[in-house]
Amino acid sequence: MLGVKTMRVLIIGVGNIGKQILKMTHFEKVYAFDKFRKDHIPDIHWLEEFHVPEDVDTVIECASPEAVKEYSSQILKSPVNYLIISTSAFADRVFRESFFEELKVSPAKVFFPSGAIGGLDLLAAVRKNIHRVIIETRKHPKSLGINIEGETTVFEGSVEEAAKLFPRNINIASTVGLIAGFEKVKVIIKADSSLSNNVHIISVISDVGKYEFRIENLPSPENPKTSMVTVYSILKTIESLNSKIVFG
Ligand SMILES: NC(=O)c1ccc[n+]([C@@H]2O[C@H](COP(=O)([O-])OP(=O)(O)OC[C@H]3O[C@@H](n4cnc5c(N)ncnc54)[C@H](O)[C@@H]3O)[C@@H](O)[C@H]2O)c1
Repeated sequence: MLGVKTMRVLIIGVGNIGKQILKMTHFEKVYAFDKFRKDHIPDIHWLEEFHVPEDVDTVIECASPEAVKEYSSQILKSPVNYLIISTSAFADRVFRESFFEELKVSPAKVFFPSGAIGGLDLLAAVRKNIHRVIIETRKHPKSLGINIEGETTVFEGSVEEAAKLFPRNINIASTVGLIAGFEKVKVIIKADSSLSNNVHIISVISDVGKYEFRIENLPSPENPKTSMVTVYSILKTIESLNSKIVFG
């Protein structure tokens, strides 16, 4: 268990990810807000209406892109660390632009955990030198809501277009877009009936070098829709807020 006894947090969304974070971390105080459920969890202060309590130092969003859009303006008015995992919200250009305008005058500090992928340390280091990023996601046809045998490309285009057609599949592309610039990211989605796990191949072309990351996460035993690496990436970000040593 990660012990961060000095932190007073607000968790937005107590679903698969939120519950795992609570199970694996010992905070000094936990407020929680969830629009659709209030499960009995010991020592949690449930909020009836969304707000950021004054004693909170860190807000952890693990709810939905809608939640990011709904509460960010309020959160950005507070001097908190704000961790955002539903990065697909940022595929919406209008929201993205207003968020970063508000951030300019905000006392908050925003963190985007690496979520279901890796390699973001390298991407962030060379971000100004990146020409192009191609993110190829391969999933079983059933995960994309289609019924085919073999392999076929179902989408090729920008993150913004992918967001309209596959809104539940673009956290990764949005996180990469936030680092490299959305205009530099091309998304390819393939259905492949031979796959049991989702595969993401991220190819980066830059002035500094060419990089390729292949990620194949195993489904979490408790919830096949989420991989544990997303939870671990949030824990890593929480840990780095309190650590004297930070990798990456
Ligand atoms: N960045 C990444 O790589 C990555 C990886 C996996 C999941 N995610 C994202 O993390 C989020 C959480 O995933 P999960 O598996 O825990 O989902 P989940 O559905 O199990 O839990 C989400 C919880 O948030 C609550 N919620 C939804 N909208 C809300 C709102 N507007 N206000 C308050 N509460 C709200 C729901 O009631 C639910 O309890 C999702 O948006 C998912 O897309 C991101």
